[in-house]
Amino acid sequence: MLPLPKDLLGPPPSWAARLSEPGSPVCSPDWLALREPADHAARSADLAAALDAHLAGHRGEVVVRDLGCGTGSMARWLAPRLSLPQRWSTHDRDADLAQRAAATAPVPATAVVGDLRDLTDLAGTDVVVCSALLDLLDTAAVERLAGLCADAGAAALLTLSVTGEVALDPPDPVDADVAAAFDAHQRREGRLGPDAPAAVADAFARRGFGITRRASPWRLGPGDAALVEEWLRGRLDAACAQDPSAAAAAGPYLERRLTALAAGTLHATVGHADLLALPAAGGDR
Ligand SMILES: C[S@@+](CC[C@H](N)C(=O)[O-])C[C@H]1O[C@@H](n2cnc3c(N)ncnc32)[C@H](O)[C@@H]1O
Repeated sequence: MLPLPKDLLGPPPSWAARLSEPGSPVCSPDWLALREPADHAARSADLAAALDAHLAGHRGEVVVRDLGCGTGSMARWLAPRLSLPQRWSTHDRDADLAQRAAATAPVPATAVVGDLRDLTDLAGTDVVVCSALLDLLDTAAVERLAGLCADAGAAALLTLSVTGEVALDPPDPVDADVAAAFDAHQRREGRLGPDAPAAVADAFARRGFGITRRASPWRLGPGDAALVEEWLRGRLDAACAQDPSAAAAAGPYLERRLTALAAGTLHATVGHADLLALPAAGGDR
């Protein structure tokens, strides 16, 4: 059955997401802008430094390809942390995002528009990077990506893959049901969701890469109220899409959470993992 157009579905529920669609490959620039400061604070500077050290003997400019680049958050964060001259490709299947990323990158960059699953070659690429992408992919796409990196001899810095570890303080009796439905939504139709960090580490390690993993959680509090609210809304939207029986509790749950947020008492830790995969053995796995 075809989904009904949104304007025939009546008013959105009180918990509806406004900027984001978690687990969806579609990302709005407003959602990416809202999360960018938390993403920058969360990514492992340690792994960026290890990548920089790995590149030390490289001659000429380093060619970096940012897969699923969005508006270019990764270039804004990583390019200043690498010592050598760089040339980036900002690759996204959303043409507007790929072009924005190239136009605003702090180093020379070219937009590439297309589905990364159609990539057949990464020859000439020194470093593949991504951020908040891998949980959207399935095992076949991750295996293919690892294979292309191996063929090209490219290093990979793969950041902010969700782990499913979410802690809200203070706890609420509905947290666990929301988490279970949200994680099931992330894994729908074969997507890796919270299984992405392990699957990716395995795919690269089997091809001889040295893997180093770091936790890169968002640690959010009252100072991040707009992000916490939109993240909660998106989480509830996805949970209710996965399990419509969750809808009865969703409105009151969001109200309790927003009351605590306004009172300055709500804190959230949202688990992510960063992975550095280096083509010569050199990780800690
Ligand atoms: C959650 S956003 C992250 C954007 C950016 N990396 C950041 O950290 O702000 C995921 C991005 O991946 C892109 N994307 C998702 N699936 C893709 C695919 N199969 N091929 C190319 N781009 C994809 C989306 O268009 C979106 O820009």
